[in-house]
Amino acid sequence: MEVENTENKMVDKSVFVSTYGCQMNVNDSERMYSLLEMSNYKPVNTPDQASLIIINSCSVREKPVHKVHSEVGRYRKLKEKNPNLKIGVGGCVAQQEKKKLLKDVPLLDFVFGTDAIDELPKIISDLEQGDNKVVSTRFEHQKPYQIETLVRNPGVATFVNITKGCDNFCTFCVVPFTRGRERSRKLSELIFDINTLVKRGVKEVTLLGQNVNSYKSECGVNFSGLLKAVSEDTDIERIRYTTSHPKDFDQELADVMQKYREKICDYVHLPVQSGNSEVLQRMNRGYTREEFIDKAIMIQESIPGVSFSSDIIVGFPGETEKQFEDTLSLMDVVKFESVYAFKYSPRPFTKAAKFEEQLTEAEKSQRLHRLFEHHDQIASQLCKKYENQTLHVLVEEFNSKSRRLMGRSTQNKVVHFEGSEDLVGQTVPVKIIQAFAQTLRGELQFQ
Ligand code: SAH
Ligand code: SF4
Ligand code: F3S
Repeated sequence: MEVENTENKMVDKSVFVSTYGCQMNVNDSERMYSLLEMSNYKPVNTPDQASLIIINSCSVREKPVHKVHSEVGRYRKLKEKNPNLKIGVGGCVAQQEKKKLLKDVPLLDFVFGTDAIDELPKIISDLEQGDNKVVSTRFEHQKPYQIETLVRNPGVATFVNITKGCDNFCTFCVVPFTRGRERSRKLSELIFDINTLVKRGVKEVTLLGQNVNSYKSECGVNFSGLLKAVSEDTDIERIRYTTSHPKDFDQELADVMQKYREKICDYVHLPVQSGNSEVLQRMNRGYTREEFIDKAIMIQESIPGVSFSSDIIVGFPGETEKQFEDTLSLMDVVKFESVYAFKYSPRPFTKAAKFEEQLTEAEKSQRLHRLFEHHDQIASQLCKKYENQTLHVLVEEFNSKSRRLMGRSTQNKVVHFEGSEDLVGQTVPVKIIQAFAQTLRGELQFQ
């Protein structure tokens, strides 16, 4: 009898979250699941099992509103079968469109912004009480940023938010409008959270923020100070962070990374966006090509063996062929092991969307293709240095079919090798046998 009751309850309240966008959103979706679990919603893996569907949207590029429309459209049949099914949109499209989204997508029951995640249980209970069509997209500009890291099954490696929002206003970017003003979490809370995660078996944390190196705690500690504190005052084995802004990356940060190298990974994601100073200026990035190169050299000299990855935009308004070629040539100077490259996409509220000389889709696609071709050559040469090296790999997963383990080296390289399941969570030496541009194949060395 009891089992039946529980099952009925589970069928009644079950939630599916569909996640788009960056790690920030991945982490926010985890938070939504955790908060709703406390309100007796069982997480499910497919939308057809759910009584509540949330689309955690991203609006950084390409037709994001359209994506929300088409995803909600796919749920029409489910809603016809079950009129009690509730569908909501959160994340950056919700913050951008606000109540307009409810009007444009009639199947939706609620919209909540990026600062309203903690209100989710209340929003849902209002809906359950019969409130139809809820919107909650206010920004908390005044309140301090105080949250607790909520992850259901953190596993070996997990994310910890350290800042929210962004004040940089790069001219192409919608994030300052969808995530609001920058706020930092308290240092003491972060240390407490990370220690709690360690007790739950977490070995690696990635400190998350749109611009982590402008972190400033209430007591004046900067990002280097935070890294030092996490290294010294917690037992976490590995620390990563993303994303650091090139203009704020200083010698102090490189020195802290080198000093605490045992814990802080040898990997920097440093988004350059363009290799041409004039384009960088129109993007409002706050550095020139030369300054970026000097910074990369400074980091390399301070942390020998460090690996880099980057984000690049091709076809920014007015970008000439010559300026695009500067981006290609920059990749020959600063050797990024991975590159996340995108076609420029005009975003609402942003300055660049109003710039003249927008490029055609065909021009942007052609440049993107050329950029990837150029980078493929660089990456396939660069990875060869790992062959025959023994890397320390933190094991994250065991694949029972192939009986292979997957883990990452401190340089953020994905490594596959044979081994037993009980190694998950351990850091083991692996000799690299074959290196591909994005992954490495290795052999476990016996300690
Ligand atoms: N805060 C991070 C970036 C967040 S957005 C930083 O400053 O690096 C992630 C990436 O999306 C950006 O680095 C940029 O390369 C890309 N991006 C942002 N807006 C874009 C746009 N309008 N068109 C194309 N790519 C964009
Ligand atoms: Fe966007 Fe620039 Fe802020 Fe990154 S730093 S989130 S690219 S405005
Ligand atoms: Fe997208 Fe918002 Fe992240 S626009 S990239 S989900 S901050």
